[in-house]
Amino acid sequence: MAAVATATRPAVAGTPAGPNPTAEPALLDVAGVTLRYKTAAVVVTATERVSFEVRRSDRFVLLGPSGCGKSTLLKAVGGYMKPSEGRITIKGRTVTEPGPDRMMVFQEFDQLLPWKTVLGNVMFPLLDARRLSRREAEEKARHYLEKVNLTRALDAYPHTLSGGMKQRVAIARGMAMEPDILLMDEPFAALDALTRRTCQDELLQLWDETRFTVLFVTHSIAEAIKIGNRILLLSPHPGRVRAEVVGVDQASPTDGSAGRLEREIHDLLFAEDRGGHA
Ligand SMILES: Nc1ncnc2c1ncn2[C@@H]1O[C@H](COP(=O)(O)OP(=O)(O)OP(=O)(O)O)[C@@H](O)[C@H]1O
Ligand SMILES: [Mg+2]
Repeated sequence: MAAVATATRPAVAGTPAGPNPTAEPALLDVAGVTLRYKTAAVVVTATERVSFEVRRSDRFVLLGPSGCGKSTLLKAVGGYMKPSEGRITIKGRTVTEPGPDRMMVFQEFDQLLPWKTVLGNVMFPLLDARRLSRREAEEKARHYLEKVNLTRALDAYPHTLSGGMKQRVAIARGMAMEPDILLMDEPFAALDALTRRTCQDELLQLWDETRFTVLFVTHSIAEAIKIGNRILLLSPHPGRVRAEVVGVDQASPTDGSAGRLEREIHDLLFAEDRGGHA
C-alpha cells in the first residue's frame, strides 16, 4: 500500500469539514449542492445539500449505498449537470460545463473508441481537446501507458483486451490529460477480485509517483479505505453527508486498525437516518 501506515487511529468527524483556515485552499469546493432529475412526470432528488472540499493530492472517496447519488455528484463535478441549489467551484471558478481540467473514468469497459488502438485512444483527447502536435501527443500517451504497464499493448484494439486492461487504458487516457482532478466512478467494480486488487495497487503506485488529485466513487467500504485518504459517507437516497472520515491512510491492514475502521464506517452507513445533517 502506498500510504505510510501508523498506529494512529483515523478520526471520524460527525459533520463535514467546513472551510479550514489552516489548510491550503480547496482545489474543488462542493458547497450545499442539491441535484435533481426532472422528468415530465416526477422530480427525483439525488443529493441534498452536500458539501465537501477536495485539496490538491487528495484521494477523496465518496462512499454510500446504491442510489445515494454518488454518480450524480461526479457528473455535476464533471460539468454534465447543474445543481438546483448550491455551487461547485474548481480553483475558485464555478463549474458550468465539462472541461479538460476534469477527466472522468467510468465503470463500464466500453468507454474506449473501438476503432482506435490503445495508443490512438490515449492520444485522441490530447489531439482533440489539448491540441497537442502528433509528436507531443504520442510521447505523452506512451509515457502514461508505460505507467499503467501497457507498453506491450500499444497497437491492440479494445475488443482484444481484458476488462482490467481496458480500465488501465481509460486511466492512462485520463491521466495523460494531466487534469486538475481525475473523477473515477467505480472504475474497478466490474473486475474480478484479483484484477481489482492489482488495479487498486497500481493506482496507489501511480499516485505515489505523481500525487494527482482524485475523486473516487465506490460502494465498497474496503476499497474506500484502501484507496482514500479522506472518505465522505453519504446516507441512502437522497444522499446527504453523514460523516467525513479523515486520516484514512493511517489505518493499517496489519495492526487491525483498517478492520476496526471498516466496522465503524459500516455502523455509520447503516445506522438509522438521524436526519439534521448538512
Ligand atoms: N437520468 C436519470 N433520471 C432520473 N433519475 C435518475 C437518473 N439517474 C439517476 N437517477 C436517480 O438518482 C438517484 C441517484 O442515482 P445515482 O446513479 O447517482 O446513484 P449512485 O449512488 O451512483 O448508485 P450506484 O451505487 O448504484 O451506482 C437514484 O434514485 C436514481 O434512480
Ligand atoms: Mg453510480
